[in-house]
Amino acid sequence: MLFSLDLVSKSIFFIFLWSLPFRSVADDSASSTSYRVEPTPITPQEGIPQRISVYQPYRGGNCHGYRAKDISRTDQGVTGSLELIGSPCYAYGTDYKDLLLNVTYDTEERIHVSIRDANHTQFEFSNRHDIWDAPIYHPSSSVNQFNLLYNFSFNADPFEFWITRKSDGEVLFDTRGHPLIFEDQYIELTTNMVDDYNIYGLAETIHGLRLGNNLTRTFWANDEASPLDQNMYGTHPFYLEQRYKPVDSNSNVNYNSSSEQQKKYTSASHGVLMLTANGMDVLLRPKYLQYRMIGGIIDLYVYAGSEKPQNTITQFIESIGFPQMHQYWTMGFHMCRWGYENISQIMQVRENMRKFNIPIETFWSDIDYMDSLRDFTVDPISYSQEQMIEFFHDIESTHQHYVPIVDAAVYAANPSNRSDDSYGPYYEGIEKDVFLKNPDGSLYIGEVWPGFTVFPDFTNPKVQDYWKHGIQNMSYAFGSNSSSYIPFSGLWLDMNEPSSFCVGSCGSNLVNSNPVHPPFKLPGEPDDLTLNYPEGFNLTNKTEYASASSASLSQYYATATSSMQPVYPTAVPIGQQPKHDINHPPYAINTEQGNHDLANHGVSPNATHHDGTLRYDLFNIYGYGEIKVTHKALTDLQPKVRPFILSRSTFLGSGVYSAHWLGDNHSNWPNMFFSISGMMVFNMLGVPMVGADVCGFQDNADEELCARWMAMGAFSPFYRNHNQLGSIHQEPYLWASVAESSRRAMNIRYSLLPYWYTLFRQASYDGSTLIRPLFFEFPDEPSLAGADRQFLVGDSLLVSPVLEPNTTTVNGVFPGDENTVWYDWYNHTAIEHKPYENKTMDAPLEHINVAIRGNKIIPMQQPAYTTEETRKNPFSLLVALDKQGTAYGNLYADDGVSLTPNATLWVDFSAKSNKLSSSSFGTYNDHVPLANVTILGVSSSPKQVLFNGNIVNSYTYSDSIQELIINNLNNFTSAGAFASNWTITW
Ligand code: NOJ
Repeated sequence: MLFSLDLVSKSIFFIFLWSLPFRSVADDSASSTSYRVEPTPITPQEGIPQRISVYQPYRGGNCHGYRAKDISRTDQGVTGSLELIGSPCYAYGTDYKDLLLNVTYDTEERIHVSIRDANHTQFEFSNRHDIWDAPIYHPSSSVNQFNLLYNFSFNADPFEFWITRKSDGEVLFDTRGHPLIFEDQYIELTTNMVDDYNIYGLAETIHGLRLGNNLTRTFWANDEASPLDQNMYGTHPFYLEQRYKPVDSNSNVNYNSSSEQQKKYTSASHGVLMLTANGMDVLLRPKYLQYRMIGGIIDLYVYAGSEKPQNTITQFIESIGFPQMHQYWTMGFHMCRWGYENISQIMQVRENMRKFNIPIETFWSDIDYMDSLRDFTVDPISYSQEQMIEFFHDIESTHQHYVPIVDAAVYAANPSNRSDDSYGPYYEGIEKDVFLKNPDGSLYIGEVWPGFTVFPDFTNPKVQDYWKHGIQNMSYAFGSNSSSYIPFSGLWLDMNEPSSFCVGSCGSNLVNSNPVHPPFKLPGEPDDLTLNYPEGFNLTNKTEYASASSASLSQYYATATSSMQPVYPTAVPIGQQPKHDINHPPYAINTEQGNHDLANHGVSPNATHHDGTLRYDLFNIYGYGEIKVTHKALTDLQPKVRPFILSRSTFLGSGVYSAHWLGDNHSNWPNMFFSISGMMVFNMLGVPMVGADVCGFQDNADEELCARWMAMGAFSPFYRNHNQLGSIHQEPYLWASVAESSRRAMNIRYSLLPYWYTLFRQASYDGSTLIRPLFFEFPDEPSLAGADRQFLVGDSLLVSPVLEPNTTTVNGVFPGDENTVWYDWYNHTAIEHKPYENKTMDAPLEHINVAIRGNKIIPMQQPAYTTEETRKNPFSLLVALDKQGTAYGNLYADDGVSLTPNATLWVDFSAKSNKLSSSSFGTYNDHVPLANVTILGVSSSPKQVLFNGNIVNSYTYSDSIQELIINNLNNFTSAGAFASNWTITW
């Protein structure tokens, strides 16, 4: 019996109560401010110390691998069985004697190698389509084996396999020389790698773009702020590999730079995915790459790739699901802070932003809005319904938006505290039985912001209604009086690895002391005044620091059990069977949390799902489950609207449903720099709506950092300034230079909204990246393999941000060959540069260097204060001709809201031989005219300009810039800029 009858009947009663609209869920004496609740009882914080296996003597040395038997090849692939060679080697578990090999030619580009134990004892993720279903399981067409781009080859004894790309003979995956180890808690698969390989992906971690060959990447969803090279919130076990080959080392390209660059190269890329939600280390070493998984089976996919890295990425994203289209407004600027104590403060921010003329599209609420920090509630005092109704009314009238946070953990009501009785989200969950359990069937109790908590089991089909009900009630609590009116525009899913501050279940009895304070000081609470400033900050400026903390708190804090002595699991002699252990497996992955205990700072691996599946096997997919359930709930509530979800934890395919921010970074320069590779990588993983907490989350920002970051952030797909409780404020109007740099960069961003939206559409159509590494567009240039201080937005704009303090210049390259033209965004002149020369550019504080690539046409609109207002302004086109006088581009448009728009528009632009043509496909028309066209690279003044053969009188030509500006096109296009096809000649 899990719960007493009494509890169940009480829960039914309170669900009834909870489902009534306009209720306040706690009595008025409760407050949302986290520091007024009771301190926590001492709960274990450190876990049992584990010896990280990757740093211990290797235990697999006696393993001899498997022998292949009964292999048969068909048109579809290869099947057979594998038999253990010799006796079990007990590397870090118990060896399976018999395995099944199944190689499937999934598509012409993608091959799938699966290896499982013959009795299907191991957890098979690929059987759980109820949790993760993706196009990878449903290849669209049957494969003609003569068109395969790859070959699968193997040796039988010992079994080794290698996959080759047919076109160039490159070996893409190669296990030769590395015995397969397949045990219940340890699977090892190794591929040989080329020298000095270039691989990208294997997220989520903070690292430069190119991963290098001296790194261990651990996959274990983890709540940690910016740990370099270590595991973080999401897991995406996919990498892209880029290889270069010299074409002819004697060829002499006149590059006037390093001798290395005088060679000419060709390149090709491929991709590799290990599909698992289990814990894993991936060892990147000079000669090999090794997967070390602590459970599951082998589901390896190799993508044969292409000469264009983008095409390889398309092959990959096609298999996990193309990303969703987001609503138009999501491209505007978002302002957030943990520590807006009441809605009046947010209203004040709104006023100030307007006063300083800095656009703001969306106001975000962190946990401050909740009643006692509890999910699906709203503080009746500081975020009162009356004020919220007024706020929603105001922001709707100005086309602005509001997004509140929801945490994964649900407050566990204290049975002995009467004011908790009305907390419906807990009692309904109990009644519906949707929370994670301990192996003995009792509730798994964690600890998060509101105190002790429980965790919805997002794999339980019953959770869908429960979660939707929560969101619906939250909408009522915000003041909605109709089931069809949701006043917020999206949801922010946080702490969904999920994070929990105990090690393992905190213990059922502790809920009797709820609500409790988290077992550590919250940022900004007394004695936590060690908030750093960015490097280069002038420390004499203490006034900023003085305003950093206004919080007050009793001195009581639980001390962690730091006195605990290390109790390492006893090492079993090599060759003997190690103990099977779910929480402390014999192979200790290199997870980042203190003591490396898998249960540390998260819901432990032995927590159990509704069907008995252990979290151990589904560990990395919790956040994804929450995303999917939230997405469906939002779609049910508002069937016509694209849901907007921002999630911290992600898994393969999360981009189909959600955006992502890069988590708790710091207000410092390295974090700003690393956010570039973070955005690039998530774009390669099909999560294009991504960005960092601009100006930094932890610590204090300063003026210079924030000015630079606000400018760079304007070139992120997701553009949000967010800040931690206790840190000094960093709204962009607080410093003159930040305000100015924000206005300038936002002016560019908003004028580029049609371009951004088109990029998003392309991403959702074929996985195109928005934030693109330079090597994606210039793949044959090896020196770009690690370039991550500059980035491209789409294929047309090159951004060179300043990433260090106390400077007014920035260095960058302008990739391409002698024929590539780059124009300066601001003055439209062709930038003088030599290919790959590291050029120093002026970069005053309020300025960000942006270049336009010749050969591209960029659709724009006159920027306004919000995206909605911008959409109503006239279009313009920026045509950047290359040296041959040609350029291409396109535009996508729809209503910007609908899940299935009833009209869409694609426009192709091309410029050639002094003629610009616009060809439209589709019927969407917002009746906004085209105002002007600017053409860069026009070598002489035109004799006349014609629009569809009619003379255009209004144009200017600048000989010095070689720029032609054609104005007053509104009259020709009053039916809508792209309502019909047109040409302009000059
Ligand atoms: C952790 C999130 O990463 C951060 O963005 C948020 O401010 C805090 N949780 C408080 O909700």
